[in-house]
Amino acid sequence: VISQRQDIAAKTYGWLNDDEGPFLRGLALSCVGPYLEVGSYCGKSTVWIGDAAETNGTVLFALDHHQGSPEMMEGSDCFNPAVIDEDGSHDTLTQFRRTLRSAGLQDSVVPVVGATEIVGPLWAIPLGFVFVDGSHSYEGCSLDAKTWGSWLRPNGLMAFHDVTIPDIAKAIDETLEGDFEEVDPCNTVRVIRKCS
Ligand SMILES: C[S@@+](CC[C@H](N)C(=O)[O-])C[C@H]1O[C@@H](n2cnc3c(N)ncnc32)[C@H](O)[C@@H]1O
Repeated sequence: VISQRQDIAAKTYGWLNDDEGPFLRGLALSCVGPYLEVGSYCGKSTVWIGDAAETNGTVLFALDHHQGSPEMMEGSDCFNPAVIDEDGSHDTLTQFRRTLRSAGLQDSVVPVVGATEIVGPLWAIPLGFVFVDGSHSYEGCSLDAKTWGSWLRPNGLMAFHDVTIPDIAKAIDETLEGDFEEVDPCNTVRVIRKCS
């Protein structure tokens, strides 16, 4: 199954590097569930972490409002015309669900369609692994780190994508001033562990 899912992830539009998917899968496998990712887009990272959730008999909550980020809008670097709905809106939910169906991960991935700002204050489920790849602004990434980091169990891991972006690195460094320690990174993914 994993080699088929590897092909599906490779064909899914997104920004994860080749070594980062297997790395995230390995991190999740080492943690008790459930897991949460913020920023699923078309499901590339979801396939890798969802496979770990299935293997560990747990679920991955895949949180995204599916309306895209400022850097994905027309005229910007990450614009993808394939995810523009017929009414002109950016909407990745249909493609995301297609990815889940083709990977056979509907029972292991629970889509949560909403923003951290809305869902976070209502959340009440302890988490073992979190992947942060939502808003790439300093404010957005800090909010994700605070919100989802507060639900991490002791020894739980939180991984961040695109850490070469200075605003994301700053948000991680500030989070490390709290009850976290840094563990080994991979490419543009940095990882921190909740101490207690
Ligand atoms: C860089 S993409 C995620 C890429 C994905 N992880 C992959 O492997 O291809 C960022 C996603 O975060 C979502 N997003 C941005 N801000 C968000 C927020 N505040 N809450 C939830 N999702 C958000 C966007 O809609 C977008 O789909």
